[in-house]
Amino acid sequence: MRLESLSLQDFRNYERVSLELNPGLNIFVGDNAQGKTNLLEAVYVLALSKSYRAARDTDLIRQGADRAVAVARVRRLAAVELGFVLSHTDKKRLLVNQKATTANRFVGNLNAVLFSPDSLQLVKGAPSDRRRFLDVQICQIDPVYRKTLLEYQRVVRQRNSLLKAAQESRAHLNQLPAWDRQLVNLGSQVMQRRRTVVASLQNITRGIHGEISQDREELQLIYQPFFAENGYSQSEGDRQEEEELKAIFRQELQRLRREEIRRGCTLVGPQRDDLLFVVNGMDLKKYGSQGQQRSAVLACILAELELMYGETGEYPVVLLDDVMSELDQNRRLQLLTLLNDKAQTIVTTTSLASFPAELVQRAAVYRIERGRIA
Ligand SMILES: Nc1ncnc2c1ncn2[C@@H]1O[C@H](COP(=O)(O)OP(=O)(O)OP(=O)(O)O)[C@@H](O)[C@H]1O
Ligand SMILES: [Mg+2]
Repeated sequence: MRLESLSLQDFRNYERVSLELNPGLNIFVGDNAQGKTNLLEAVYVLALSKSYRAARDTDLIRQGADRAVAVARVRRLAAVELGFVLSHTDKKRLLVNQKATTANRFVGNLNAVLFSPDSLQLVKGAPSDRRRFLDVQICQIDPVYRKTLLEYQRVVRQRNSLLKAAQESRAHLNQLPAWDRQLVNLGSQVMQRRRTVVASLQNITRGIHGEISQDREELQLIYQPFFAENGYSQSEGDRQEEEELKAIFRQELQRLRREEIRRGCTLVGPQRDDLLFVVNGMDLKKYGSQGQQRSAVLACILAELELMYGETGEYPVVLLDDVMSELDQNRRLQLLTLLNDKAQTIVTTTSLASFPAELVQRAAVYRIERGRIA
């Protein structure tokens, strides 16, 4: 899949910009605060319908402007035109071939994988980062999952307000069983999908990580459901798994009911899942060196590309925000070589010096200065 062209109007620090992209490697060079990340962010919003770093959509509108507009031409088997319009006064509009559509129909037309210095924190960061890592990829390849996840999150929010209300008056508790049923049904669907995706990632990662660590180490990705530490064991696979999952879910609800009411929040469910990175039997979060953690993240992100390829038949567009300077020579080369010729790649950097000369020769190189691209 390729992003052929992109135009932005009043998006972040861009007043108006229009560009064509190279099907292979694209390098955007610029000093700090010139608009490099903003550009990748625009592509990300075209893929996921919302930003990964803005609290509100309207933060994306250029200060002083009324609305931000983006239009992109994406080439898959056929060409698709995607766009969004963000405004201070109207609701966000998402467009596919110039027709307004829902977020669920919008997401999935352009698939993207973002790798930034923050991604390097994936292993040692918060569990929520790792859940987001999984969710962002699954949502792009599976609209049903996206819908289920959003619905689940809504149920958690409403159940939380009910629990809070129950702290004041027990009367609210008779509504709880209805919410519990939804929590269990939607929650176990979310968990099953996450589990299968982690299993696929694990399969793919093995080979890639072998290459990165020159076969000295074996990386395991382990899905950790919220009840993992409470000594439940589970069979793998089939229908039975789903029933077991629900049974454990219900048991945990029972067990933690008082605590949930006391704290006024839902303590059970996939909003508490985690993903474990284990190398040679060691939890990398606790024991990994920085180099090991980085290799694991790199392998995992490259595996994500293969997973998306496997599911959709096309590689996603790869967005690399300023990561070259963060990686050593060896990993840098490995990353670019592994990506080479597979996926369209859009890279930002403050200096071309961190790129191998032969790569720069083949790439389209753009300069970014104060929201202008040349
Ligand atoms: N809504 C907005 N309106 C106008 N300008 C904005 C808006 N949001 C962000 N900016 C500006 O965009 C500029 C560039 O931001 P960006 O994050 O893209 O920089 P960058 O080139 O990635 O820099 P760095 O190398 O430091 O990461 C910042 O100076 C910021 O103030
Ligand atoms: Mg930046």
